[in-house]
Amino acid sequence: MARLNRVHEVQVETKQSKSQFGETAMKIIVGPSSVELAEKISQQTGLEKVSVATRIFPDGESYVRLDGNVEGEHVVIVQTTCAPQDSHLMQLAFIAATAKRNNAKKVTAVVPYLAYARQDKIFLQGENVSIETVAAMLKAAGIDELVTVNVHEANALKLFAFPAKTVSAIPLLAKYFIQKGVEKAFALSPDKGAMYIAQQARTVLQGEVGYLEKHRDRYTGQTTQAASHLNVRGKSVVIFDDIISTGGTIVGAAKILREQGAAHVYTACVHGLLIGDAEKLILNAGVEEIVSTDSVPSKYSKVSLAPLLSQELKALS
Ligand code: R5P
Repeated sequence: MARLNRVHEVQVETKQSKSQFGETAMKIIVGPSSVELAEKISQQTGLEKVSVATRIFPDGESYVRLDGNVEGEHVVIVQTTCAPQDSHLMQLAFIAATAKRNNAKKVTAVVPYLAYARQDKIFLQGENVSIETVAAMLKAAGIDELVTVNVHEANALKLFAFPAKTVSAIPLLAKYFIQKGVEKAFALSPDKGAMYIAQQARTVLQGEVGYLEKHRDRYTGQTTQAASHLNVRGKSVVIFDDIISTGGTIVGAAKILREQGAAHVYTACVHGLLIGDAEKLILNAGVEEIVSTDSVPSKYSKVSLAPLLSQELKALS
């Protein structure tokens, strides 16, 4: 076998406890990009785990090996597709194909962060619809159904040739602020298109809600935000977004909130990509805390998706 430069082995652990799903309902395949989350889901549901041995060869190619029996089983692969996106997507495809090769009855992919979902249409002549290509690849690999969390654009899921759904982690993120003791916070969407997110947060926070107008230059990627009047003077505000990437959107929103007299500014997102200096830029803009889920595992993953996804698996079974 070729020499390997990186090895990540996940040990097999067979649960003795009876699943809440019945004797043979499903098995959880622990994807290498979501080990902790998959283990939490297994603990919370009582579903048996199947581990995956993964390796990255010196040239960067991925290798996977299922370490458990999946014959006749409905398997649920938990594998997020955060960076390195392409490797994580290939691992997901390889795991699904291996499960089918070993006669799994059905393959459900739980992909908390779905890479390439932001390119769900052609914005400029000559572009690809990247998520459509990803969907075709996952179908070819043998995936029968997909569950993701707060996909950037719900229309992206219509491009899948098998059932694909998105669930929302916003109520869980909002509850974090209730538990922290932040009362009746103003829920702000930094973008009109994400207003549904702020509305969901408001039902938990019981404060006010608002949004900013954001414009993105499709050639440079630069965004600008317009300040409408917001009733935030002296209030605690949480800026909710699906993704924080470079932090530019949150920095712009925080600046407007400070100008309008907000007393405390926090931010919460489902997918905390936080590229480069994003954290520093956001904190320097006066944001007191950054909170994300474990869709992208990091030090900001203060809210786990495990309860939400465990619930969702019960609905699937
Ligand atoms: C875009 O519309 C998304 O909802 C986010 O607002 C965006 O991805 C955030 O990117 P950044 O952190 O680079 O401003």
